Amino acid sequence: MQVVMLGLPGAGKGTQAARICEDFHIPHISTGDMFRAAIAEKTPLGQEVKLYLDSGRLVPDELTIRVVADRLNQPDTENGFLLDGFPRTLPQATALETSLGELGKPLDYALYIHVPQDILLARLTGRRICKVCGATYHVVYHPPLKEGVCDKCEGPLYQRSDDTEDAVKTRLEQYAQTAPLVEFYRDRNVLYQIDGQQDIDEVYRDIRTVLLATS
Ligand code: AP5
Ligand code: ZN
Repeated sequence: MQVVMLGLPGAGKGTQAARICEDFHIPHISTGDMFRAAIAEKTPLGQEVKLYLDSGRLVPDELTIRVVADRLNQPDTENGFLLDGFPRTLPQATALETSLGELGKPLDYALYIHVPQDILLARLTGRRICKVCGATYHVVYHPPLKEGVCDKCEGPLYQRSDDTEDAVKTRLEQYAQTAPLVEFYRDRNVLYQIDGQQDIDEVYRDIRTVLLATS
């Protein structure tokens, strides 16, 4: 099963992707997570992308496409994968289509989590992430049992450097480059729109229904 997630920053892509991947046993490939790991490890890639992430701008297509192509060549993608945060521009979507064509693995689902823009700032500024296992929380909508501590692994929670009001504003502006992908995938009959304004469990229930009904 090959899946991509679409939606505005804070729509809930990462939250739902983690559940899908656990349930359907496919790797969760998040370009944002890959870039943040490279920044944390201070690799050459991390140095190259840091300013883009901190300010909320998109990393150039050529670099992003290369990083994803390398990742899709890893053996764990044999039985499918979920891409979270990629593609994000038309050139990225076209490049993905070409490489999936070469691999003989067509895309099965583009899950578009739809939310109105006005709720996103609160979601993003309240987000907290586990430094150890990457689990995502929210101070109001999905709080951990103990403040500042991950329920799963007891790791410390932190706030992303691009979850500030300024960076969120830039990220929402950059989304203009991603919006055309909804039509791109609708044209290919793989677009499934999900109501992302419901609570986390309800959103997942709808996603699961789509994946089970059409697989
Ligand atoms: P990336 O990491 O992909 O960030 P994003 O697209 O902005 O998406 P987010 O991770 O912010 O949101 P999400 O939809 O996953 O929401 P989440 O589930 O966490 O990209 C970061 C940066 O990397 C980019 O700005 C760019 O610089 C670079 N980059 C990455 N990919 C790139 C690419 N392909 N090309 C170029 N550059 C690229 O949820 C958010 C919060 O809401 C959480 O606190 C969660 O608990 C809460 N929440 C989730 N669902 C609900 C719900 N239903 N109800 C209430 N609260 C909820
Ligand atoms: Zn954790």
